[in-house]
Amino acid sequence: VRIFVPRDAAALALGADRVAKALAGEVETRGLDVTLVRNGSRGLHWLEPMIEVETAEGRIAYGPVKVSDIASLLDAGLATGGNHALCLGKTEELPFLKNQTRLTFARCGIVDPLSLDDYRAHDGLKGLAKAVAMTSADVVAQVTESGLRGRGGAGFPTGIKWKTVLDAPINVEKGDRKYIVCNADEGDSGTFADRMIMEGDPFVLIEGMAIAGIATGATKGFVYIRSEYPHAIATMTQAVEIAREAGILGSSVLGSGKAFDIEIRTGAGAYVCGEETALLNSLEGKRGIVRAKPPLPAHKGLFGCPTVINNVISLASVPIIMDKGPVFYKDFGMGRSRGTIPIQIAGNVKYGGLYEAAFGLTLGQIVDEIGGGTATGRPVKAVQVGGPLGAYFPRALFDTPFDYEAFAAKDGLIGHAGITVFDDTADMLKQARFAMEFCAVESCGKCTPCRIGSTRGVETADKIAQGIEPEKNLTLLADLCNTMKFGSLCALGGFTPYPVTSAMNHFPDDFRPVPLVEA
Ligand code: NAI
Ligand code: SF4
Repeated sequence: VRIFVPRDAAALALGADRVAKALAGEVETRGLDVTLVRNGSRGLHWLEPMIEVETAEGRIAYGPVKVSDIASLLDAGLATGGNHALCLGKTEELPFLKNQTRLTFARCGIVDPLSLDDYRAHDGLKGLAKAVAMTSADVVAQVTESGLRGRGGAGFPTGIKWKTVLDAPINVEKGDRKYIVCNADEGDSGTFADRMIMEGDPFVLIEGMAIAGIATGATKGFVYIRSEYPHAIATMTQAVEIAREAGILGSSVLGSGKAFDIEIRTGAGAYVCGEETALLNSLEGKRGIVRAKPPLPAHKGLFGCPTVINNVISLASVPIIMDKGPVFYKDFGMGRSRGTIPIQIAGNVKYGGLYEAAFGLTLGQIVDEIGGGTATGRPVKAVQVGGPLGAYFPRALFDTPFDYEAFAAKDGLIGHAGITVFDDTADMLKQARFAMEFCAVESCGKCTPCRIGSTRGVETADKIAQGIEPEKNLTLLADLCNTMKFGSLCALGGFTPYPVTSAMNHFPDDFRPVPLVEA
């Protein structure tokens, strides 16, 4: 019988390794016929470590499991899915999972991440097999047709980006070639979708990158992973080696005669290296500083060559599009936001985790119904959508559907689809100050609005908090935000105003603190 204990970093942080070790020891002592599989996470964070047992009726889940629960779980017949206080029933029937539409995350938590047999048994490599039999232009056309847009945040159509690279000329005699760069520098606080895929289903990313290579004529790929993700780095490194040995990567992808290989590179901990041109500089061994655009990376990217830079989730969504066809994928979603999006629910929330769904759920459904409201049980005050540079939405905007255009229309962004929940004890002036401080710390320093503006923003927020000329300083802060939004070279400085102005506009009371009265 197979028992699954996650090896995902979130589960490890909650003791999954200790649970796995204790379980292995106890199974041996009792002489049970059990195979332990270290899977990815199913994304139900409040239940981690969540272990699962394979039975004839499907997998049965237990959680959250502690080392001290192992003996009683085995006494209760864990190996046959026996009942126990921690038993959650059939995994697939858990409402949080059952109501999802898992396309990109279809295998995550189900397969052994480093087993190619498991990957193949769950529809892996079907998309790549179709792609290698097609022309590059046809692959690009399929991805364009699917409506897939960049999941890193900007929502640029993936097919159009690929077409730009496919059409870009290169001087082969000079040794030029095209590149696929996967942006796995998932720096937004409260986001973890990229990490979960890399740890739970690394082959889907490798397959997606190989398809991107076939589609654009790129022969080399890099995955740029942030150093804070050691487990993802280790899993991806092993998976690339396995894929190379199996002929999925190398001089003849799946025997097609088309070459594509991948290298894993580690970042050094700068948020700005998630910005595509700073990432390219970092990959080239230079300081991670933003480059002016144009030229676009699609024209002149890594080492001056045409380069596709896509987020992990964009690339990991491609295999299912190629396998099931663009129409299947674009049938999900709303408006111009097609397909599914892995929403990462975090912060002060009862049921935090990863929830993949078609675009179109309202923010209220995500926070109240799926997330179950706050963990503290207090009223929700604000939800920050799109990472530390996303806008704070009050309950009054909870009817906003999860869709790129709908959020933009409300002066927000869905970004990389992380949402962070705050209860009514949150001080939005402090949150606004935090955004400016974050920008000041992470700024690459290339342009003035961001480098200087963020520091002045912190000071101005402090003056408002101290009741020093509040009206004048509020106007100054709004003016500063305007300058940063329109004058910054990249999204770091340009998007810092989103949390600040949304906090000012939706929670004005927090910006009118009572001045200290001297006794
Ligand atoms: P952008 O709008 O300048 O570009 C989006 C992408 O499309 C880029 O890859 C760009 O090179 C490409 N592109 C644009 N026009 C093209 C064309 N004609 N042909 C081919 N490719 C083209 O956005 P940017 O500055 O790259 O990213 C901003 C976004 O990043 C924001 O929306 C924000 O949500 C997100 N973001 C994500 C973070 C994260 O940690 N995931 C952190 C900060 C921001
Ligand atoms: Fe650098 Fe900030 Fe300017 Fe971006 S906005 S280029 S991070 S200084």
